[in-house]
Amino acid sequence: MPNFEVQRCNEADMPRFFEILSLAFANDHEYVDSAGSERTLQLFHGDLYVNFLKVIDKDTGKMIAAAKWNLYEGGGVPPQPKLDGNYWENKEEKEFTQYMFHAFFASRQVEIEESGACLAALDMLMVDPAWQKQGAGRMLINVMGLIFQAVVEGSDRGRRLYATEGFDSPHYVCPVPEKFTTRRKQTYWWMKRPIQSKNSLNSMSDWIEPRCCNQR
Ligand SMILES: CC(C)(COP(=O)(O)OP(=O)(O)OC[C@H]1O[C@@H](n2cnc3c(N)ncnc32)[C@H](O)[C@@H]1OP(=O)(O)O)[C@@H](O)C(=O)NCCC(=O)NCCS
Repeated sequence: MPNFEVQRCNEADMPRFFEILSLAFANDHEYVDSAGSERTLQLFHGDLYVNFLKVIDKDTGKMIAAAKWNLYEGGGVPPQPKLDGNYWENKEEKEFTQYMFHAFFASRQVEIEESGACLAALDMLMVDPAWQKQGAGRMLINVMGLIFQAVVEGSDRGRRLYATEGFDSPHYVCPVPEKFTTRRKQTYWWMKRPIQSKNSLNSMSDWIEPRCCNQR
């Protein structure tokens, strides 16, 4: 049996967090490739809603998996995140990546608004390929209490796992303007899990940090 434990990340974990992100997704998303570890560090410090989590292999002390859960608890609807910077080789690449980024988060933004900003969004989940299929991914899903409606933009690889944890799944194709229609498409499984428990005492994880007290 693997000897894994979920812990909160600290700043020193961010390079490994990005390394696992890169290894697990292997260049599936333009904006992941372009924005890199610098942006991960910015998110760690700058975003009010984030919970950066990791799974440690207790036998070696190595961080083998990571997740970012965004938790909105009725404190007002935040603006949709925007991507900027100077990471691209030319203007057109930057514009394309910004469209992709915007389209990727469009469904989630609607859900945040419609839920009155009472929502848990699994923003990132990845397991180092050397440690996959040993339960680490499921541990990082299960840290989120069932008192929150939860959403995830699921990959093909994550879809079955999310389905077994109560998420359902229409397929979503991120739209881009006419001039980019010949480029590769970005798609995901737009998956939602309704609130499953009203019992906040038993369904809140030690690793998720609530920032205000408007939980339902
Ligand atoms: C998806 C991912 C997070 C799963 O993590 P994991 O630790 O390997 O998964 P677990 O061992 O906890 O999950 C077990 C279930 O996931 C499914 N699963 C795991 N890896 C899979 C793969 N490569 N292909 C299909 N299903 C897979 C298995 O069906 C398994 O279910 P079972 O044990 O009932 O058969 C991991 O494969 C990963 O990092 N993938 C690349 C990045 C990614 O797609 N992240 C999800 C973004 S939404």
